Amino acid sequence: MPALGLGTWQAPKGEVGQAVLEAIRLGYRHIDCAAIYGNEKEIGEALEAAFQAGDVRREELWITSKLWNNRHGHHNVRPAIEKTLADLRLDYLDLYLIHWPVPMKYVVPHVPNQFLSLEEQPIADTWLGMEEVLEADLTKHIGVSNFSIKKLTQLLEVARHNPEVNQVEMHPLLAQNTLCRFCEAEKIHITAYTPLGRPAAGDRPANAPELLESPVVTAIAEQHQCTPAQVVLAWAMERGTAPIPKSTNPRRLAENLASQNIALTDADMAALNKLDRHYRYVDGTFWTPPGSPYTLQNLWDEG
Ligand SMILES: NC(=O)c1ccc[n+]([C@@H]2O[C@H](COP(=O)([O-])OP(=O)(O)OC[C@H]3O[C@@H](n4cnc5c(N)ncnc54)[C@H](OP(=O)(O)O)[C@@H]3O)[C@@H](O)[C@H]2O)c1
Repeated sequence: MPALGLGTWQAPKGEVGQAVLEAIRLGYRHIDCAAIYGNEKEIGEALEAAFQAGDVRREELWITSKLWNNRHGHHNVRPAIEKTLADLRLDYLDLYLIHWPVPMKYVVPHVPNQFLSLEEQPIADTWLGMEEVLEADLTKHIGVSNFSIKKLTQLLEVARHNPEVNQVEMHPLLAQNTLCRFCEAEKIHITAYTPLGRPAAGDRPANAPELLESPVVTAIAEQHQCTPAQVVLAWAMERGTAPIPKSTNPRRLAENLASQNIALTDADMAALNKLDRHYRYVDGTFWTPPGSPYTLQNLWDEG
């Protein structure tokens, strides 16, 4: 999997296709998609255009997509990936992930009593469907997202094909060292989402810390004559994780890709590691309305 990828959550329709084309032109070879982002059709048009123009070949790209919460259950996985493949105009994905360990009856979370508990809809059952689409060559790899050590451990006990990736929120304020050590031991690669701390996104929590304005980050950026975004992306790659910053802006797309050229020192890494305060920008509160079987405790299995 190419270390640095392009995030596409909240990349709006009418912009995302152009961003994908520009990213490929700049040299991005890893694109992170999901059915729930609602923009896979436009991404598919852009991919087809890039292939037809000879900008890139399919086998040079790493395309990830994700099974949404209303498609848990082993019979639902194949139709879901087939829809994503049709939208993306592809024959296969490189990686298909269970997006959240939160099965739901409908697409959106705002319908009362629509959650299914993990007793009603076990992950192990959904995983059977993931293994089926792997064996049918609809995807080259399978994995999960937003999974805790506890849920990974339970899955590893029953899986015939182990999850190869866990995509989780990760940046210097949420270093997740214990999860990293567990995944390394189990040969599960980590993709780091929200690697910039969502600096410009409208729905950040009120009073969210400004990761890119941290004096530690800006001082290191000054020393390396690079930007704060490049520092935190270089931190992620130095730890062996794959950050997937989202941008639809050509200048920031280029800036983020160029973070691959930044070599942080041990002292830089030590200073950045000290910023860890287990802070989540995407904390999962939206899965915990009254009546939901999910709580922040049983979602993250922490504390
Ligand atoms: N598996 C999951 O549950 C999950 C959850 C969240 C995210 N993700 C994935 O991870 C990707 C990235 O996470 P994210 O979108 O939450 O947050 P992010 O990548 O940390 O931040 C994106 C925001 O930062 C801005 N930005 C991009 N490059 C910048 C730079 N160099 N300097 C300053 N601002 C910059 C973008 O605006 P512009 O577009 O205007 O540049 C956008 O508003 C998502 O797009 C999605 O693919 C997955």
